[in-house]
Amino acid sequence: MKDRSKDLLSVEMTDKQFIVFEGGEGAGKTSAIAALAATLKAAGHDVLLTREPGGTPEGLALRALLLAADAPPWDKHAELLLITAARIQHVKRIIEPALRAGKTVLCDRFIASTLAYQGAGRGIPTELIRDLHRRLVGNIQPDLTILLDIDPIIGLARSARRLHSARLDEGRFEALDLAFHAQVRSAFLAIAAATPSVVIDASRPLPDVHTAVTTQVLAWLTA
Ligand code: TMP
Repeated sequence: MKDRSKDLLSVEMTDKQFIVFEGGEGAGKTSAIAALAATLKAAGHDVLLTREPGGTPEGLALRALLLAADAPPWDKHAELLLITAARIQHVKRIIEPALRAGKTVLCDRFIASTLAYQGAGRGIPTELIRDLHRRLVGNIQPDLTILLDIDPIIGLARSARRLHSARLDEGRFEALDLAFHAQVRSAFLAIAAATPSVVIDASRPLPDVHTAVTTQVLAWLTA
């Protein structure tokens, strides 16, 4: 985790602890992250599996406010502030303590999602998003990002099936048009090219995706 603030320094922390999964709708992050968690636990890692928005009770409440299909029409800046509020709570209360305790933290979405959805998708300048992050969240960045890349036409179809079968009322972003999701995808790819990341083709069958994720992360951990 680069740029971690000084007060977090601890002998137990390394720069191979904070792994973030990113990707558009229906990329299969949830099952891939669970598969990686199982592998790392079996290899003796103390793993914390968490997600955004969510990861704390207050984050879950904000998640419901943000993602319900009939959620209010949030102003884009209000949306950014709610996501940032959830992230501040998540980082301060859950992620930083876990990293200080030497855990491997696997997080489903983080700042790249905000840059992709609220930045590229909604049109908020990325400097504002990065500045809010630096000033309020504390400049924490993933040590490694796994980007599960998928064509939004395939991903949105998968996501619609999942939301329907799990009866999840979380479809507000899925309901946005294909152009929005295409911009999100391009932004994720650009961020991955500029940060420590692995890009995995998530259109392949799930077992292949899981194998690719596990192989890449184990290689990175031992490099
Ligand atoms: P997911 O948990 O299925 O990935 O869904 C989370 C949704 O929240 C997804 O549509 C993307 C959206 N989101 C943002 O728009 N910005 C963010 O910073 C985060 C973390 C999520």
